[in-house]
Amino acid sequence: MTAQRPLTVSSARTGLAGRVRVPGDKSISHRALMFAALAEGRTHIFGLLEGEDVLRTAEAMRALGAKVVQKDGCWIVDGCGVDGLKEPSDVLDMGNSGTAARLLSGVLATHPFMSIMTGDASLRSRPMGRVSVPLSEMGARFVTRAGQKLPMAVEGTGKGKPLHYRLPVASAQVKSAILLAGLNCEGETVVEEPAPTRDHTENMLRHFGTEVKVEELPEAGRRITLKGPARLVAQDVLVPGDPSSAAFPVVAALLVPGSEIVVEAVGQNPLRTGLFRTLKEMGASLEIRDERVEGGEVIGDLHVRAGRLKAVDVPAVRVPSMIDEYPVLAVACAFAEGTSRLRGLAELRVKESDRLASTVALLEANGAKVHVEGDDLIIEGQKSLPGGGKVQTHMDHRLAMSATVLGLAAEKPVHIDDTAFIETSFPGFVSLMNGLGAGLEV
Ligand code: S3P
Repeated sequence: MTAQRPLTVSSARTGLAGRVRVPGDKSISHRALMFAALAEGRTHIFGLLEGEDVLRTAEAMRALGAKVVQKDGCWIVDGCGVDGLKEPSDVLDMGNSGTAARLLSGVLATHPFMSIMTGDASLRSRPMGRVSVPLSEMGARFVTRAGQKLPMAVEGTGKGKPLHYRLPVASAQVKSAILLAGLNCEGETVVEEPAPTRDHTENMLRHFGTEVKVEELPEAGRRITLKGPARLVAQDVLVPGDPSSAAFPVVAALLVPGSEIVVEAVGQNPLRTGLFRTLKEMGASLEIRDERVEGGEVIGDLHVRAGRLKAVDVPAVRVPSMIDEYPVLAVACAFAEGTSRLRGLAELRVKESDRLASTVALLEANGAKVHVEGDDLIIEGQKSLPGGGKVQTHMDHRLAMSATVLGLAAEKPVHIDDTAFIETSFPGFVSLMNGLGAGLEV
């Protein structure tokens, strides 16, 4: 990561206006590279997110033997087959990316060689036991630092033992790691999730020609079954715009008076769109128009107009469908009429930062009234926020972008210690916002 990039954000002088496209979906981009590297044949990926997190995955797949090149905006991957990756000659550095580290753990678990994974200070503080424990049951051996933190050595097994596993937390990363390991196991690998989480891995397994069975469980969860050993066959992939990135210009346009914008071609997978649903419940002028299917994914254009929002009570069952959107939703709630309650946010404590604590600190530093009760975040909305706060982002891209949105709508300028990590998921964020008239000075 480059040097620190502080930013002071002043209140937007006029409403935001224009049509924009956000970069490709981060979750789908990581998976596209990994699936392509595990497939037989040549995959072309269009619209890949060229953010630092995904570039780490591209680098790791190269280090493991896949040929990965970028040409005229298209990523071309020559895969090695599900059990064809090679021992890397050096440590795999996954940077800031939990998704890269966790999903790759699954891939490495059923390859018969030793590898070592590390990451930046943020990633090295995040729990890896949630993947190393179930993957050990499949036959791999993991050696981690105390607290099951990176760096971590993985000694993969050849053919793994299939696992029946109930996820203790609703995590798409853990589900995906187990399914990826299951590709090289003899028999059925079954994952049960307590609540439905993003299903990009299941969709991509099917897209690359492998059968996967998904059953609804009686109490909201799902059971996913994959029969191994499985083959993946190269397929072209078209990556839609990332709804988690669209969240920032959308909330900014809702909060800055006089704004009217369109965010084009945003992924509309229902397991990702909890924020848009919630904003509509808050009375937002947010319409999804021209829904269409491109490359097997439903996408749509988001038409957004500024207006007063009202408070909302978000149930815990909705958390997985908007897990990364809580910091910017909290900013929206701070400007809404009434008291909002965002329930069941325990998982936010183990993201790129402790996002529950850092979101509270972001709001408090700028004059919002907020507190935590158990795992719930309670925010008393105000018509306007004083702003003027100093915000620490703790290497967390979404905190930096949420603070930018808050600054555009608050009275006094907001000082952000570091916006460099925005590059992990949303390269070009500042210029995209400036194209809408945000007037950010870097
Ligand atoms: C992701 C899943 C989520 C999310 C992360 C991306 C994925 O993490 O926070 O940004 O691509 O599977 P968890 O599944 O651990 O909640």
